[in-house]
Amino acid sequence: MDKKKPVTNITSMLTETRVFPPAKEFSKQAHVKSMAEYKKLYNESIKSPEKFWGKQGKNELAWFKPFSKVMQWKAPNAKWFLGGKLNVSYNCLDKWLNTPTANKAALIWEGEPAAPGKVGEERTLTYKQLHHEVCLFANVLKRNGIKKGDRIIIYLPMVPEAAIAMLACSRVGAIHSVVFGGFSAQSVADRIQDCQAKMVITSDGGFRRGAVVPLKKNVDDALMIEDANNGLLAKTIERVVVLKRSGNEVQMHTGRDIWWHEEVSLVDAHCPAEKMDSEAPLFILYTSGSTGKPKGILHSTAGYLLGAKITTKYVFDIKDTDVYWCTADIGWVTGHSYVVYGPLANGATSLMYEGAPNWPEPDRFWRIVAKYGVTVLYTAPTAIRAFMKWGTEWPKKHDLSSLRLLGSVGEPINPEAWMWYHEFIGGKRCPIVDTWWQTETGNIMITPLPGVTPTKPGSATLPFFGILPEVVDDNGKPVPKGSGGKLVIRKPWPSMLRGIWGDPKRFVETYWSEVKGSYFTGDGVRQDKDGYFWIVGRIDDVLNVAGHRIGTAEVESALVSNPKVAEAAVVGRPDELKGQAMVVFVTLKTGVKASEQLKTELRNHVGKEIGAVAKPDDVRFAEALPKTRSGKIMRRLLKQIASGVDIKGDTTTLEDFSVLAKLTSDE
Ligand code: WT7
Repeated sequence: MDKKKPVTNITSMLTETRVFPPAKEFSKQAHVKSMAEYKKLYNESIKSPEKFWGKQGKNELAWFKPFSKVMQWKAPNAKWFLGGKLNVSYNCLDKWLNTPTANKAALIWEGEPAAPGKVGEERTLTYKQLHHEVCLFANVLKRNGIKKGDRIIIYLPMVPEAAIAMLACSRVGAIHSVVFGGFSAQSVADRIQDCQAKMVITSDGGFRRGAVVPLKKNVDDALMIEDANNGLLAKTIERVVVLKRSGNEVQMHTGRDIWWHEEVSLVDAHCPAEKMDSEAPLFILYTSGSTGKPKGILHSTAGYLLGAKITTKYVFDIKDTDVYWCTADIGWVTGHSYVVYGPLANGATSLMYEGAPNWPEPDRFWRIVAKYGVTVLYTAPTAIRAFMKWGTEWPKKHDLSSLRLLGSVGEPINPEAWMWYHEFIGGKRCPIVDTWWQTETGNIMITPLPGVTPTKPGSATLPFFGILPEVVDDNGKPVPKGSGGKLVIRKPWPSMLRGIWGDPKRFVETYWSEVKGSYFTGDGVRQDKDGYFWIVGRIDDVLNVAGHRIGTAEVESALVSNPKVAEAAVVGRPDELKGQAMVVFVTLKTGVKASEQLKTELRNHVGKEIGAVAKPDDVRFAEALPKTRSGKIMRRLLKQIASGVDIKGDTTTLEDFSVLAKLTSDE
């Protein structure tokens, strides 16, 4: 898309008037208890950031050597906690060893295989046990020649060893890059090549909807892929560590491949944590790539960890007694910050589930919530809409009364899904935190605080401490409240990305050139009269229909507010008269039949909800929408389908290829 398309005055027409203040009992026990308290801390964090962050850094993290300077900022390069030395795995593990937390569950894990009506395989690791496993595996890394700064690809299913591998890397100062287990051999090879990794950590396979995903086989294939000069693309790999998980047969290449269980039997568990500089790289994570070539987003040690820790504490109101479950895969940033680093840095209990939400039946999540007494649940709108589609009978079968707080992340949550989550999962008593952030931001940026912020379905509400977001026009000037514009962040924050691995030019172009001196998020947004932020979608997706700039999120939200619609995606196609015509792809609820009449009904429905300008020109029914494996709709592909052109560009992130075939065949 033409990136420079002006976006001022994004017409925002959807108005949501429901407001849900937090219950008094919740506020009373919360870490932050009142709006006054939030405002005081927030104002301090913006007016005197060095004082605020200096205090947080000192109090929340354990240091081998204290930092001497809080921050150094020369746009676009930030350094935080200069002169300090620390270790992430020390902060997540060792720190708890001589405290009562040592014998508390750090990770509770449930495997996917289970018969209908039955629970699955289960493992619990206390902080002490997790520390032991991490030390062993860190020694395995060292034994195999891994040094500070080396890059390691982690390509594992959702098993405790994924977290163990990440923590072991951070213990020895190696930089991990987790590649989601759903990615192909090609994606693995590209990522190895991009970061010049020395080692891959994988498993024989992983379970997904009852089938085995052949991870080791994919790695073997990845290491055979040739580059343009008939050399090997991923030639830097010296070792492949293989965990036994699914028991399928694999080929072990002598001299290169080693078994996890054999290696750990050869080392002891004494492994002091490396003293790392505050700014030492902690990990590289390639972004989901719904557009273009994946970018290796680079995060640092101290700033990232501090952000992950305090957002987990305040946004999820973490307490010692919580059983906290973030359902994201470890292959996404949400899994990094809110399955592993944030919860463990707080001494919390983090639950991991290996598989699909509808395996063996659509109540798997609710069965898990009831079984472990989950208190805080953090998931994505795409999952919530799937639950809505499967029906309320599934959650109703289970006792969900342990839940006290719900979270949402990944895309704007449409008010209909918000209300459903609130009623059928939260029993109308749990606050919902709709958290806006990005792989690049490292941690949650715009969010309610659950004991403080009155929530409005569909809005991520207000900024977290130290975060200064603003809505600006094409000249970088703030727009009045109520108008749409680009979302930028005006001040540096500790967990911000430190760059794109190996591509400083792209770093500057993507994030720092659009609006001078500010971080450009790529999102379109509007602020309402109360200062609440409403994300209207990615700027690149904003449509220009007859001079009106319309965010995709609003139209999609209006469509799913029709009880017949399960999911919707809105894209533009070139139109001589209007500039762009609006095409919507719609999936219907189970049992609803597609018809010409329904098309008209949906067009009129959007007209009524938003206004005549937003009436779609074309409604197309689909069995499913093409999504990335993190649940984001791949609008780029839909745009191509809507415009009748052949599918071009990277489709390796696509979750289910048959979806694409179906969409193109009923042209
Ligand atoms: C993009 C970032 C954040 C971790 C998972 C996704 C969209 C994310 C929200 C939200 C509206 C949201 C934005 C953002 N997004 N959360 N609560 N409300 N939009 O990370 O793959 O880096 O994607 O996801 O468009 O820019 P990501």
